[in-house]
Amino acid sequence: MEKLSSLRLPWPVDWAGLFGAERPLILEIGFGYGAFLMHLARQNPSANVVGIEIANQCLDAAERAVVRQRLSNIRIIHSTAETALHHLFVPASLSQVHINFPDPWFKTRHSHRRLLQRDTLDAIVSRLLPGGELYLATDIIEYAEMSAELLAATPGLDNQLGSAWVNQMPGRVVTKYEGRAQREGRACYYFAYRRNEMTAPDVPVIREEVMTHIVFQTPLTLDEMLTPFERQEYKRDDMVVNLVAGYRGQRVLLFEVYIKEPTLEQHVALVLTRREQPDEFTLKLGMLGYPRVTPGLQWALKLLGEWLVSLHPDARIVNHTVGHHLTG
Ligand SMILES: C[S@@+](CC[C@H](N)C(=O)[O-])C[C@H]1O[C@@H](n2cnc3c(N)ncnc32)[C@H](O)[C@@H]1O
Repeated sequence: MEKLSSLRLPWPVDWAGLFGAERPLILEIGFGYGAFLMHLARQNPSANVVGIEIANQCLDAAERAVVRQRLSNIRIIHSTAETALHHLFVPASLSQVHINFPDPWFKTRHSHRRLLQRDTLDAIVSRLLPGGELYLATDIIEYAEMSAELLAATPGLDNQLGSAWVNQMPGRVVTKYEGRAQREGRACYYFAYRRNEMTAPDVPVIREEVMTHIVFQTPLTLDEMLTPFERQEYKRDDMVVNLVAGYRGQRVLLFEVYIKEPTLEQHVALVLTRREQPDEFTLKLGMLGYPRVTPGLQWALKLLGEWLVSLHPDARIVNHTVGHHLTG
């Protein structure tokens, strides 16, 4: 089975093309070992079922199960929920979203990393079709209470149950975490919501930016630019750029850069090469790994370019293709 990753797929994905058929699209977020995902695919043979996970052993186990069970209507994708919802799916494209037992270590100090929070829920509402369904299950009472409050304050969703949650959901396949909760005698809390006709939050698809580079002139050599380099961290709004380290190649400098954006984290290489024109250099994205050109990546390139130019009073930027909104 082909390994799929949100970093390698086009943004957004042509799901009908990927599955080879235009069919209703069902998403499970954080499927774990995949029992529920396989069940979804078997129960909905005329739907395309997408499972996303971040844990490698879960991805491998689910991929093996898909092959073993010969399920052709599943695609398993290495992705965070945040990346998938913002980059892979267009608004009003999902007929169901399932989240089973997210965030098992529910603590207030982890709240900013919690899967279900306002931004993720807004993205889910945006991606659901009118009439589309959201199902959530948890075995943590605090998580249930927090979710009930968040969901009740979401005008784009209608509760399908007579109460905030129910403790039984007949017909469900029991997931690993659900089974553990049942064996240990803990209650489970199930939610079922439906997307109504109210306007969805405006959550645009984040597409890839154009390729980026900076050309600059400086009388300095590669070594003279590398020597003063020190690790640098920059923060702006909810973006973080870490210029981690610089390395000398035979004819290039390579800078290791970590970029954290709300929907994506990337560890990339920016490469500085000498041009044919005297004293001219190009700083651009290296092709190590599978980097994607995002606003955060453009900002990282701009920060490093400006730092390199700041090293000498006669240095100056000759031209660049860094996004115009970042050049101020
Ligand atoms: C507690 S486990 C539940 C697994 C499974 N759904 C079950 O009920 O047994 C939570 C799962 O969500 C995954 N996960 C955590 N954060 C995630 C995120 N931001 N995006 C996608 N998956 C995530 C974890 O790797 C883990 O497999």
